[in-house]
Amino acid sequence: MTNTSDIPGPPARFLLGNLPEFKHNPLACVLNWQRDYGDIVHFKLGPRDFYLISHPELAEQALVQQQDTFIKMYDADRPNGLALILGQGLVTSSGELWRKQRRLMQPVFNRSSVVTMLPEMIQTFEKLNTRWCELPAGVAVNVADEMMRLTIEVITQTMFSTSVLGRIDQIGPALDIGLRFAAKSIMNPLRAPLWLPTRANREFINARNFLNDTIDVIISERRQDSGQYHDLLQMLLEAQDPETGEKMHDRQIRDEVLTIFSAGHETTATALSWTLALLANHPEILARLREEVAGVLNGKTPEIQDLSQLSYTRAVLEESMRIRPPVSMVMRKIATEANLQGYRLKAGGFAIFSIYNMHHHADFWVQPEVFDPERFLSAEKRNKAYMPFGIGHRFCVGNNFALIESQVLLALMVQHFDFELVNAQLPDMEMVVTLKPKDGLPMLIRSRCYD
Ligand code: HEM
Repeated sequence: MTNTSDIPGPPARFLLGNLPEFKHNPLACVLNWQRDYGDIVHFKLGPRDFYLISHPELAEQALVQQQDTFIKMYDADRPNGLALILGQGLVTSSGELWRKQRRLMQPVFNRSSVVTMLPEMIQTFEKLNTRWCELPAGVAVNVADEMMRLTIEVITQTMFSTSVLGRIDQIGPALDIGLRFAAKSIMNPLRAPLWLPTRANREFINARNFLNDTIDVIISERRQDSGQYHDLLQMLLEAQDPETGEKMHDRQIRDEVLTIFSAGHETTATALSWTLALLANHPEILARLREEVAGVLNGKTPEIQDLSQLSYTRAVLEESMRIRPPVSMVMRKIATEANLQGYRLKAGGFAIFSIYNMHHHADFWVQPEVFDPERFLSAEKRNKAYMPFGIGHRFCVGNNFALIESQVLLALMVQHFDFELVNAQLPDMEMVVTLKPKDGLPMLIRSRCYD
């Protein structure tokens, strides 16, 4: 058995451990430490023990076989990290509450429910289409911002219908402040407690109060509204536990609405941004994608039955999420001392599973840095090192939503527009909640309508 002190890792400073370099650039640390020390690395952030895991078998042992040891860390008395903003929603809750909520929400996100939202997704694209057709020629646009706006609109439309669209325009920016603050807080055990009136704390508390109040009003108005709605909010209000028949109370719905809203747009926006950037750099792949889209859609908008035929479109997205996984790592608290293939991990420590490292692991991928959608064209080629939506019981509940949404939007975008990277090279990566293009993604967009 290898004890924690014998697991290789970077030298740690007195008291701070590896906090300064990790805080400065967590992604660089995760990449370099795997290269230098291997598939399991021990490091310290302040007094806490952390383990970086970059091998799919170790990840499987922890996240699938020992899920009661590697746990989400919601503490109702001292919420931290994303729980500061998302409360006890599905991403952050644990134990019996999580199990109950997952049972309730799973049907809302089944493929058969999600395909009914296709018209809203297409309608949202139509607005983008109008806007992009009016862009002045030769002016670069930040496509990362555009994709964020697009997916916020999709989740807004599908969650609340258009009736409240105007009012929730401010939700996006407030959520952004909240999520960024929450994500930073988890990596920094030395942060100022929330009751200290620092600028960051005040900004965060204002954003959180605004979000909670806004969602509370939307829920209470909907409860009094006798209109017919077919959207995610209505599905959440009506969802019933198949075992107990119980429904959710307002506070829980608020946490779930915020959770779905935040988990449901930035991830997909990031996936679409990288996909467009990668396609701009690989004209032969773009040409093949366009050929498929033209053959299947023949100039019309996609319908449900078209989705299964857009298999190359899907492979392009899957490969894009391999090479640039929007959620590049997941984290768990180690509840009791754990044994991972002979490595002893301390109780109270934290494990970081690097999806990015697994997606680029030379033992599992031929030429991992090459963008090659062929890898995903047949089921036999499936690879256990591929996990953009996580693994185990906390697997992304929104994966059907994300895949259908991005397949449809990508097909429509390449059908209607040409994209060119302003800086020719792919942008650098930056990890801010998701793995984003650093400094945005400036591109020239040209309508193909007049070709
Ligand atoms: C490309 C898009 C997406 C990616 C890459 C992604 C990735 C992930 C990953 C890796 C996890 C697991 C986290 C962990 O194990 O700690 C997760 C969980 C989750 N995702 Fe997604 N996601 C995407 C889109 C969505 C969408 C569209 C929604 C909702 C509409 C959503 C809702 C959730 C929720 C609620 C959870 C928590 C599930 C649970 O713990 O039971 N995600 N996602």
